[in-house]
Amino acid sequence: MAASPLAPLLRAAEPGLMDLINVHEFEDFAKVKMHKLAYDFIAGGVEDEQTLRANRAAFERHFLLPRVMVDVTTVDTSATLFGTKMNIPLVIAPTGGKNLVLPNADEVVAQGALATNTPICSAVGVRKILEEGKPLTWWTNTTGQRDKKQTIEYAKRTEDSGGKGIVVTCDNPYQSNRDRNNRNKFDYGYMQSGVPKEGENRPPRNPAKPAMYQPHTPNMTWEYIRWLRGACNLPVVAKGILAPEDAEMAIQNGASAVGVSNHGGRQLDGAIASLDALPDVVSVVKGRVPVFMDGGIRRGIDIVKAIALGADAVLVGRAPLWGLATFGQPGVERVLWMLGAEFKLAMSLAGVTNVAGIKKLKVRRISA
Ligand SMILES: Cc1cc2nc3c(=O)[nH]c(=O)nc-3n(C[C@H](O)[C@H](O)[C@H](O)COP(=O)(O)O)c2cc1C
Repeated sequence: MAASPLAPLLRAAEPGLMDLINVHEFEDFAKVKMHKLAYDFIAGGVEDEQTLRANRAAFERHFLLPRVMVDVTTVDTSATLFGTKMNIPLVIAPTGGKNLVLPNADEVVAQGALATNTPICSAVGVRKILEEGKPLTWWTNTTGQRDKKQTIEYAKRTEDSGGKGIVVTCDNPYQSNRDRNNRNKFDYGYMQSGVPKEGENRPPRNPAKPAMYQPHTPNMTWEYIRWLRGACNLPVVAKGILAPEDAEMAIQNGASAVGVSNHGGRQLDGAIASLDALPDVVSVVKGRVPVFMDGGIRRGIDIVKAIALGADAVLVGRAPLWGLATFGQPGVERVLWMLGAEFKLAMSLAGVTNVAGIKKLKVRRISA
């Protein structure tokens, strides 16, 4: 991942919120501020991190053919998804383990989502906002329940508590092999409680080991999507789709949207970059359901490229976490604001006045 030229300076001086000029710099500063175990957990991918790097590299290989001489005095960045109007077609991705960054981090990110009118994939941290009757759009994220009965209960619970969708993580049957965590002797128990402080003695809960082969939901198949759809009226997003055949299976089994994703390079190393997988998935889906894309988005122009290649919306995982790690809620808000502002400017410079217009832009993939 490209480090900004500011990186050495960040080590020498503590910048303020408004000193950081892009998401890369938020990550650079987060790296300085965070415990190494926590930073590596969030920044890292699996094994040789081929897929992690490929996600960013794919954006650097795709180039737009911008249109000119278009009146771009007024540019509308908004999009509507499952009946919810969003400022920009961007959703905060599910990210487990936020407490590694700071205690109560899920609520802080949810407050940032509320303040910026950004939908968020998390049922954790939203309770207070809901109790106060504030208008947060949240979807749950699940890696599956044990059986059909529990799945139905889960779907109903989500609907009753005001969730607006269910995001099913389809690519997580086993704990993946994360070299950074293995090397750091990371304990997956820290995801709930944070990294122990200097001198604190905590019994191990779930220490990372090479290829630990720890099951999550290895028996989950497409019927799970059918169970959810049958149990509630919420849209169900199948996240973690890369093969066009799986996009078709998702739709055949009732998915309301397809999420093109390799889990931010955190599950199968060697899986294709999300942006590279997107066009073939879009060709199969043929507009029957919305297509989401995530993996490597750090700039507004990245969102434009994803939509030009057929996505209806993008998810961002690490970007808001770098805001969280550096400045808490104001950092989350600033990162989301930046992505939105860059997106609007990129649209204007590409000669499009609304999100539908982005889909008509041509994109060329240039090989190195
Ligand atoms: C720290 C962290 C935790 C994550 N936890 C989950 C999770 O619980 N469920 C899931 O579907 N995806 C999870 N993801 C993947 C994200 O939802 C998303 O697919 C990915 O982060 C997108 O790539 P990006 O970080 O480059 O934006 C996680 C990603 C990170 C960085």
